Amino acid sequence: MKLAVLISGSGSNLQAFIEACASGELSASIALVLSNRPGAGGLARAEAEGIATLTIDHRDFASREAFDRAMLDALEPVAPDLVILAGFMRILTPAFIAAFRGRLLNIHPSLLPKYPGLNTHQRALDAGDSEVGATVHFVTEELDGGPPLLFARVPVAAGDDAGALADKVQRREHVIYPLAARWFVEGRLALRNNQALLDGQVLPGNGIDLDAIRD
Ligand code: GAR
Repeated sequence: MKLAVLISGSGSNLQAFIEACASGELSASIALVLSNRPGAGGLARAEAEGIATLTIDHRDFASREAFDRAMLDALEPVAPDLVILAGFMRILTPAFIAAFRGRLLNIHPSLLPKYPGLNTHQRALDAGDSEVGATVHFVTEELDGGPPLLFARVPVAAGDDAGALADKVQRREHVIYPLAARWFVEGRLALRNNQALLDGQVLPGNGIDLDAIRD
């Protein structure tokens, strides 16, 4: 299967995919890494592996629609089977989401449905939450609101600030994101009637807890 990975930043999740493809954990190859930010760290990671990269700077476009159309035009010849949003920090238009419906995944740094949007770890700290986490989900038109697939929880320790939590959570992200993608690559995942199915079974509303399936 061919993956396209969309990034805006350092690309540590992209790196997890590069490694999962190289190790055979994921029977897939990354056909294109697309960034909306020139110089994003993930571009160098891809180039170091000989993976094709492309930058489409959203600031060059007058509207979200025009930017997304340019991304769709760039992705068309690549014909990815699965599109991975890996720290891609732009809100997508319905036209883009429709083009890849059911084969568009995102990872969000919270235990969805808690804290869609930005500053998730700080918001969890401010609320006094005892745990934080990340969730892999299908992308639908609702921002960070598509059906969750898999989540990982991280306990909040005394003295943790948002940065410390982000580091801890990202280490879990690098486990759950390739794993959820593997389910897709193996043909086990589907999006039907706005519900996520794994092996034909509707997943729980929050997705599967990594702790429940880990050895
Ligand atoms: C990740 O922590 C991801 O969960 C978050 O951005 C980071 C990207 O890190 N995504 C979002 O906030 C999406 N709304 P990376 O570039 O090192 O993979």
